[in-house]
Amino acid sequence: MILVTGSTGTVGSEVVKQLQEKGAEFRVAVSSLTKAKMANAQGLQAAVLNYTDPQSFEYALKGIERLFLLSPPGATEMEAGLIAAAKKVDVRHIVKLSVIGADTGASIFGREHGAMEKVIKDSGVAYTFLRPNGFMQNYLSNFGATIKEQGAFYLAQGDSKYSVVDVKDIAAVAVKALTQAGHEGKAYVITGPEALSNAQIAEKLSKAIGKPVKYVAISDDQMRSAMQEQGAPQVMIDSLIDLMHFYVSGKGAVLSGDVEKVIKRPPTSFDDFAKQNAEAFQ
Ligand SMILES: NC(=O)c1ccc[n+]([C@@H]2O[C@H](COP(=O)([O-])OP(=O)(O)OC[C@H]3O[C@@H](n4cnc5c(N)ncnc54)[C@H](OP(=O)(O)O)[C@@H]3O)[C@@H](O)[C@H]2O)c1
Repeated sequence: MILVTGSTGTVGSEVVKQLQEKGAEFRVAVSSLTKAKMANAQGLQAAVLNYTDPQSFEYALKGIERLFLLSPPGATEMEAGLIAAAKKVDVRHIVKLSVIGADTGASIFGREHGAMEKVIKDSGVAYTFLRPNGFMQNYLSNFGATIKEQGAFYLAQGDSKYSVVDVKDIAAVAVKALTQAGHEGKAYVITGPEALSNAQIAEKLSKAIGKPVKYVAISDDQMRSAMQEQGAPQVMIDSLIDLMHFYVSGKGAVLSGDVEKVIKRPPTSFDDFAKQNAEAFQ
């Protein structure tokens, strides 16, 4: 039995879909009783697991052998309690959604995820670490509104390139690690098939949507102010500006080949992602 945390989110919902397609036995973890009822109504076995309530861990982990571990953005340290609980009930394998650079600590996000990878290693529970680059889906969820309204998106990434990745490919690697032997003790760097600048991404979006989209390179201060106006928490603003520096330094341009190694097909190109989601950008 597998437990999927973050099951309603961008990555977790795709993991759920692919586990269903595979006919795997799994339970979804959700943060409230209302959400558990919604999951039940969709035919899913659900348990309430809230990172802020350690008492919820034991019931959610009952009978679980494999744990897909994902925490909400900016709350990575909350995973420690669940890792300890998983160890206590003899969970056999933890597949953790981490981030690119978790091994080098070259960004705030990398250091936060790296610390939780260490907690898992120290626990002695078998693990697989998934270290993805930025999600293609960010162009829908985070930058989609201005793409739709203004035909533009704004980032302090300069003209740096990064190997942006489709969440479906992250989920496909996760499902392999959760349902197949041989992924224990491995860390997969999950990248798209090419390193792209945001100007190139804007071109690809324009082509797929059939209307012009432009990338506007802004300064750190401009990006900070925009996030402050939107009411983002200071700690998230600092982490995202730091992430921009990670990309500007060129550290996000790596092409690992790990997706193809695990799922035996190349990762999704941005052209295909944009084509498949063209309507959502309108
Ligand atoms: N975005 C990127 O480009 C990127 C790149 C690399 C790595 N990452 C990493 O990806 C992770 C985020 O994944 P995502 O984008 O799929 O997340 P997401 O879409 O923001 O979803 C967050 C999930 O966390 C759950 N959650 C929120 N509060 C909770 C709580 N108190 N207790 C239990 N569950 C809670 C939510 O479940 P409920 O609906 O039940 O509340 C939801 O399923 C982060 O660790 C981030 O560092 C992101």
